[in-house]
This record gives sequence, C-alpha cells and structure tokens, in this order.
Amino acid sequence: MRALQCPDWYRTDQFLTRLSLAPSLRPDAPSSCSKTILEPEFNSGTGILMIIRKIPSEGLSHYSYFISAAGMAAVVDPRRDCEAYLELARELDVRITHIFETHRNEDYVIGSLELASRTGAAIYHGTRVSFAYGNAVKEGDTFRLGRIELRIIETPGHTFESISIVVTDREVSDLPYAVFTGDALFAGDTGRTDFFGPERRAEVSALLYESIWKKILPLGDGTLVLPAHGAGSVCGSAISDHEVTTVGYEKQTHPHLSLSQGEFIQKKVNEHHYLPPYFAKMEQMNQEGAPVLSHLPDLRPYLVDELRDIRDRSQMLDIRSPTSFAGGHIRGSLSIWKDGIPAFAGWFLSYDQPIILVDDFNCYLGEVSRHLMRLGYDNLKGYLAGGFPAYFKSGSPIGHFETWSVHDLVRERKNDDLFLLDVRDIANVKKYGMIAGAHHIYVGELPGKWGEVPMDRQVAVYCDAGFKGSLGASYLAGKGYSRLANVLGGMGAYLQAGYPVEHVQ
Ligand SMILES: [Fe+2]
Repeated sequence: MRALQCPDWYRTDQFLTRLSLAPSLRPDAPSSCSKTILEPEFNSGTGILMIIRKIPSEGLSHYSYFISAAGMAAVVDPRRDCEAYLELARELDVRITHIFETHRNEDYVIGSLELASRTGAAIYHGTRVSFAYGNAVKEGDTFRLGRIELRIIETPGHTFESISIVVTDREVSDLPYAVFTGDALFAGDTGRTDFFGPERRAEVSALLYESIWKKILPLGDGTLVLPAHGAGSVCGSAISDHEVTTVGYEKQTHPHLSLSQGEFIQKKVNEHHYLPPYFAKMEQMNQEGAPVLSHLPDLRPYLVDELRDIRDRSQMLDIRSPTSFAGGHIRGSLSIWKDGIPAFAGWFLSYDQPIILVDDFNCYLGEVSRHLMRLGYDNLKGYLAGGFPAYFKSGSPIGHFETWSVHDLVRERKNDDLFLLDVRDIANVKKYGMIAGAHHIYVGELPGKWGEVPMDRQVAVYCDAGFKGSLGASYLAGKGYSRLANVLGGMGAYLQAGYPVEHVQ
C-alpha cells in the first residue's frame, strides 16, 4: 500500500472505523505531516461510508455535526466560519447537500447561508418561526443520504420552532441510531426556557418536558444523543463534559430525567440564566439571515499615529493577559483575554463602532477574528501594528492599575476606604461564598450597574481567577475610575490560601 501525506490531526483509526466521532477536529491544523495511513480506506473515492463527525467551536462550547453517506452529506447547525465542513467534504469525497438548523440559535451566528453559498446545499429549519431564508420542515419529514434516514421530530421548549433529527441506518435496522437534539436535551442538562419572559416560562418548560419525554426518550436506550452544546455553554446551566452519551445513559444519570412533570417545570421556572444583550442581535441575524462573508475579515494594521486619530470613534479590544493589561494599556481599552471573548464580548462590544485589536505580538489575531465573526461582529476592522510594544515605544500615555495578591487584599481590607467588588456569576457566589463586605455585580451587568461603585474610593475587583476582574476593572477605568486593583487568582486563590468566606443564599 502506498503511503499518503495527511494532516496529523487525522488518526488512522478514523478511516478504519465504519462510523466515527471526532471531537478534536482541528481545521487550523498544519496541512501536511509524515504520518502514514492506509490508502484504500482513505481514498475509496466513493464516499460510501457512513460518517458522523462532531465539530466543536471552542469558547462557545457549540457542537455542529457532519453526517454523510452515499456521496452526500448533511451539516447540522453549522458555524459561520465553515471551512471545516468543506474540508471534510473534500477529504471524504462527498457533496454537502443538506443543512439543518435545530433552532434559530441565540449565542452565535449560524453559518447556514455561508455554507449554502459555498455548496448549493438546501437549508431546513422548524416551522414556528418565520425565517427569511431556507425551507420549513415538520414532524415526520424524512430525508435520505443513501442508507441514512434523517427524520424530523418537533421538540419545542427551548424555542418554539426547535426540531431534533433522528438518524436511522436503514441498511442495518429500523431502530434509531442517533438523534441530533439541538438545545432540547444535553448531556446532564436540558435547554434553557427563559427566552420568552417569566410569564411564559412554565408554558415553554411544559413544552420541553413533552418534547423530551414523549419524543426523545422513547427513541430507545441505545440511541446516541448528539446535542448542540457541551460543558460551559451559556445555553445550559450544568451541561456535563461527557463527549458521547446515549438516551439510556441519560435516563439513568441525568438529574432532570428522574423528575415528575411538575418537578421538572418548577425546576426550569426557578433556573437562573444571564441574558447577554448580544442574544437579541443573534436572534435577529439568524432569522433574517446573516451576511455572507466568504472568508475571515481582512484586518487592517493601524500604526500608532493612525490609532490616535480613530481611538475616540473605535472600540479598542485588548486581548492580552490581565497582568499585561494592568501593567500598561491604551487608555479606554477593554480587557478581554482571548479565550474569554466568546463568553464576554457580547456583553460589552457594540455592533456599530469599529473594533481594533491590541495584542502583544499579534499572534492571536486569526483566532480572535474567528471568535468575533461567530458572534456577528463584522465591524472588526483592524489591529495595532507592532502590538502594544509599538505603542509604549512611541512615548504615548499609558494607563495602568494595580494588581493585588489575595494576601494584599486581606491586608488592604483593614482600610475603610476600600470598596470590594465581586464580579462573579451568581451561581459561583452561592457555591463558594463571598468575601465579607463585598458588593456583588456580575461582570456582564456592569454596563448597567457601574453607578453602584463609588468613584471616590479605592476599588478592588475580584472574580474566580483574575480574568473577569481585569475586564471589570478595565470597564471601570474607561468610566473614569482611577483607584483600581484587580485581585489576581480571585476567589480560587483566596480559598486556596485558607481565608474565610461568608456563605450566601
Ligand atoms: Fe439555543
């Protein structure tokens, strides 16, 4: 057999396995390496194998899926930067013919139109929302990719138009093999039901109960559950980190599935979720159809002098670490570390003013562009040429604030002038407790509540580890606060050091 060059993120067993899940697909991986694989399985040239691949989008904890057989493929809930699906289709010798949206999605821009523009595939989604594009499907509609049958089941609750898609390998059995559950059923969690206001929460929670208990659980214990999100997603509260699960496993272990209907509805009604302002923008873009971009944005490098001219009309997004930011930054810039962008950009950045990135050495511009593209920030325009070193070497004025260890914090607490600001998620406040005397404002809610923080006192911001604290402090610095400190290590370090906390309900 002839040795082929292939990307190193391919494992030989993916080609020897009749059906595989690949949670670690890396579209940005190097294009070649010296790994040897076996030719017949790699290059059958017919695309006849039944393949299911999971394509995760880090940060969003979003999962899309690629399923193919008989030379055709469907993509479920594609992301906007859709090269991963096109590469898979090329490598597997298949044509993407179908795109399914399990629901309108709220936390990212769905890439259906982008992928359709590159493939000609048809787009399908539920009927109970009026989309400006694509085709509506209803309960019982079926699609065939050769031996694979894809059957639509309507599973409202998270949203009214939510659908799940049942996969059956007709060549093997009439039994369902897998189900794409969207945001109805996750591993260890169920979709949030708070999008339609408190007055409708019980109603939509009851719909979700019906969807899960009457449509998904009866598919059979052996059915693979393929949800649209994994651990860390803002679309659930406590999604587990199980990469693969089944209906039977969830029935045995899922904390919601042992509840009665009344208990389930009550639990969903009482759940707390934050609602970032960008969700409304995503909802609008996903119903109207997001602009097709065809590629990642071409970023313009801005020289320091050019930046000075546009600074007041732009949003400066500093993607460096909290320690770098505290040590020196462009005044008025916002500190969001690069991995925090999917979760926090949507609380702070507007869709109107241009966004300019500031990094140390501009190593992460592509990664951050991808994150912002997925959130619909098509107003990302450029970056600081030469990075922050170019800025401080130019003699420009530099902003900075203090960083404290938890021991510094304990010492400073004796000072009556100190205002201690806790910016953690309320769930972590309840779980781990608070430092006595601290004032709590969730970091994402600072834009509406920063007036609660006195400007004439020393303010120390703490979070879980020191990253959200930097974001909070940078936001306050932009509002004119001058006596700021970020507590490095946050509550994690505070507890590690053995300092006492107050528990709150
Ligand atoms: Fe969702």
